[in-house]
Amino acid sequence: MYDNWEELEESIKNCDKCKLNKGRTNIVFGVGNKNADVMFIGEGPGADEDAEGIPFVGKAGKLMDQAFKGLNINRENVYIANIVKCRPPQNRVPEKDEAMACLNYLRNQVILVNPKIIVLLGSTALKNILGEEYSITKERGKIIEKKDIKYLPTWHPAALLRDENKKLDFWKDLKEVKKMAEEMNLRI
Ligand code: URA
Ligand code: SF4
Repeated sequence: MYDNWEELEESIKNCDKCKLNKGRTNIVFGVGNKNADVMFIGEGPGADEDAEGIPFVGKAGKLMDQAFKGLNINRENVYIANIVKCRPPQNRVPEKDEAMACLNYLRNQVILVNPKIIVLLGSTALKNILGEEYSITKERGKIIEKKDIKYLPTWHPAALLRDENKKLDFWKDLKEVKKMAEEMNLRI
């Protein structure tokens, strides 16, 4: 574990702990407020993220930005990161060994940010953070509290591109996050 951001990011730039290091153009470390109260966790970089080195800048990210805008959530107030920092080939789901190899970096980010609310974007985030026994279709929209952190699993923004109903759920869930944050006097 690193107690500062610079060393943590540097160690990821040089990381070869899993086979995803071979396909990356850039690592996608994370972006936003390093003291955020609310954190968002996705799956892994796609082509656009790999090219820019920033999470959620592609199509799915644009949808998430629209929801943020509509609900008055400021991207600069929150922190956004992924389960894996390097792009999986053909945007496939990260394999278990890859997620396991990378997870300590995310844990370190969570410790440094110290968020009160964590939004889990999709099944990969949910299963790797809370456990394989969790199902996104069952847990979506429900608040799960563990060690003083409130987790809210919701659909991955890429899933919204294919399904209007999921879009409605996603908006509803983010609205809930916004409301909860305001009630707790958190920055969002
Ligand atoms: N999908 C993710 O899970 N993360 C990103 O950063 C972009 C797309
Ligand atoms: Fe290292 Fe994570 Fe990239 Fe794998 S995905 S090489 S563990 S930074």
